[in-house]
Amino acid sequence: EQIKKGNYDHFMQKEIHEQPHSLTTTMRGRLRDKSVVLGGLKDHLKTIRHSRRIIFVGCGTSYNAALAARPFLEELSGIPVTMELASDLLDRKGPIYREDTAVFVSQSGETADTLLALEYALSNGALCVGITNTVGSTLARKTHCGVHINAGCEIGVASTKAYTSQIVVITIMALAIGADSISTQSRRESIINSLSDLPDKVREVLRLDNEMKDLAESLMQMQSLLVFGRGYNYATALEGALKVKEVALMHSEGMLAGEMKHGPLALVDETLPIIVIATRDACFSQQQSVIQQLHARKGRLIVMCSSGDAASVCSGGSCRLIEVPLVADCLQPVINIIPLQLLAYHLTVLRGYDVDQPRNLAKSVTTQ
Ligand code: G6P
Repeated sequence: EQIKKGNYDHFMQKEIHEQPHSLTTTMRGRLRDKSVVLGGLKDHLKTIRHSRRIIFVGCGTSYNAALAARPFLEELSGIPVTMELASDLLDRKGPIYREDTAVFVSQSGETADTLLALEYALSNGALCVGITNTVGSTLARKTHCGVHINAGCEIGVASTKAYTSQIVVITIMALAIGADSISTQSRRESIINSLSDLPDKVREVLRLDNEMKDLAESLMQMQSLLVFGRGYNYATALEGALKVKEVALMHSEGMLAGEMKHGPLALVDETLPIIVIATRDACFSQQQSVIQQLHARKGRLIVMCSSGDAASVCSGGSCRLIEVPLVADCLQPVINIIPLQLLAYHLTVLRGYDVDQPRNLAKSVTTQ
């Protein structure tokens, strides 16, 4: 086992640091200069473009990855994209039609709820697409078509490198679906360029490791942690909080910053740590005003911002900063989750918990 971990103490740590490489593998052979190629989808793109709705179905981290990529898919396809947690879709027997494309996202390809939701969508006649890391998995076999994320075997129960590869694959899928539109051509080309730069940017953000360890030391005694995000980074807030609760066993909630005034604001005091994701994108000014409101209530803030933006995000009071490299808006979630993965990892080690086998959790939940 130690041989497989190489120079790392834990699989989760290894898998976090592997991301420049896993993302390179995910993209290999799929990016051209001005277009993308997804062999597993090419015969179905026309059907997808004509579908009435695209429905993402998944659990846990896989659901969050789809949520992170959703805005870009909506933008490029012009098709309504809805989100379903597999168990909730099954509980409600939510309506699914033949005109729908249902996209099932699962690292293992064996999660029981996701597979049952797949059976349900198949019986309703939807086109079913699978996105998985596991060749030959039930999900890969039972869907009509799909894409392998090729992130390499993930062993840590908390998913890290699969998350970033899932976002990248769904982004490439959005580029493929939108490839017939002239009006989005230059936007697509600029995202394809940013995808090629992404592994280097991930390498850059991984240099925050020591800083995140430091932050973890200052937070290790806390009972609770909130993470606020919106837009592309709403998913980052959910996923960052999920990492902290699943491995560091610390209560943590990811919240939509736009909902702050409708409840969460009541929790704000001088002690509760709050991470606000405020990297540059179309929601930046809304996040600046969220920070001001939290400052006004003397919140204990940790702000994630784009490099060089310290003065613009933290003028009204004191806060701790996490400065990350700026990439294209729809790819920023890939960068922003990494400091939070590192934070969750260090919190877990410092609090003395099992990093790779968190209490009560399984890598793949194969029963309902
Ligand atoms: C379990 C794992 C999570 C994972 C979820 C979905 O809860 O602990 O890390 O995100 O299952 O798994 P899947 O294999 O379907 O992505």
